[in-house]
Amino acid sequence: PQNGIESVTVRVPMNIALVKYWGKRDEKLILPLNDSISLTVDKLTAETTVRMIPGVGKNTVEINGKQVELNSNKRYETVFEEALRLQRKRKDHSDSNGNQSVFYHFEVISKTNFPVAAGLASSAAGFAAIALGIQRLLNLDDVQANRLARIGSGSACRSMFGGLVHWKKGEKEDGSDCVAVKTDESNWTDLYCIILVFNDGRKKVGSSEGMKRTRETSTLLKYRIESIVPKRIEQIKEAYSNRNFETLAHVIMADSNQFHAVCLDSVPPIRYLNDASWQLIEIIEKFNENETRAAYTFDAGPNACVIVQKKDAKSLIYSLLQSIEIPSEDLKSAEEELKESFEFS
Ligand code: PMV
Repeated sequence: PQNGIESVTVRVPMNIALVKYWGKRDEKLILPLNDSISLTVDKLTAETTVRMIPGVGKNTVEINGKQVELNSNKRYETVFEEALRLQRKRKDHSDSNGNQSVFYHFEVISKTNFPVAAGLASSAAGFAAIALGIQRLLNLDDVQANRLARIGSGSACRSMFGGLVHWKKGEKEDGSDCVAVKTDESNWTDLYCIILVFNDGRKKVGSSEGMKRTRETSTLLKYRIESIVPKRIEQIKEAYSNRNFETLAHVIMADSNQFHAVCLDSVPPIRYLNDASWQLIEIIEKFNENETRAAYTFDAGPNACVIVQKKDAKSLIYSLLQSIEIPSEDLKSAEEELKESFEFS
């Protein structure tokens, strides 16, 4: 700490939901209507510096070089207020100079290595990084840090761990039993996630607005939450621990499709997938013709995440490259890059 300013830099990965979170039972505390389960994608990260500056002042958040307008993004202030509440609860309020201080403001500088707000759960990595930074600065326990991430962006609480992570909706009104936990200690390390960015702009209907609309208008959502999600969570856990890729893949694709079906079942309907997304679905269906070797999943946007085992990654990438028209010199450099990132021979 310098001049009483406390600063920490953390790098936190994004996660991709295999069984999706969609719908809140409490909008303020961000308590979900259903459990969800995700894989942490360790190469896609938000590197974030969080500074706590003593004294009253304006909080600032910069993401990829741009200042975030905090008046229209209230979630950040909610997280900072909660952090200050926790800070005041600590016995020791003194800063590095030994001054008793209960007022702080925050400065956050974050850099992601993937597109922000294009339905790629970038807010998850960002808020998880802020929560982790504040956890380090204030010495919070894991449950407190989890809650901090969650009130920023629900799915962020799943980015606080690696591997397969289960976010339990909990039953209590105060959200004290609504936590994300790592479900399987042995990580399935040869699973790859290939991200296809079809559109890196902001999504048309943000997740909060979309969830609200679906909860209020969809008749399918209730059925999904009560009869489908609990079974799928168990199927994913079992398939993951048995390294059963086929079952894992079937559940992932079914759940992505059902999530987009409840979006379409909302009034007015919400359409996140575009023609490129559908082309990708067709390519994967063809790739899986004889054996299920890949699984697509889409969040609140058209971009795809394709999950594949390392042994099949190379042939999948070649199938993808063959299906798009790209000039031969670009294809060559794409191949070089792929060889490097995937350690292909
Ligand atoms: O955490 P949010 O508000 O960005 O919502 C995420 C919703 C989905 O990405 C569509 C599903 C999920 O579980 O991550």
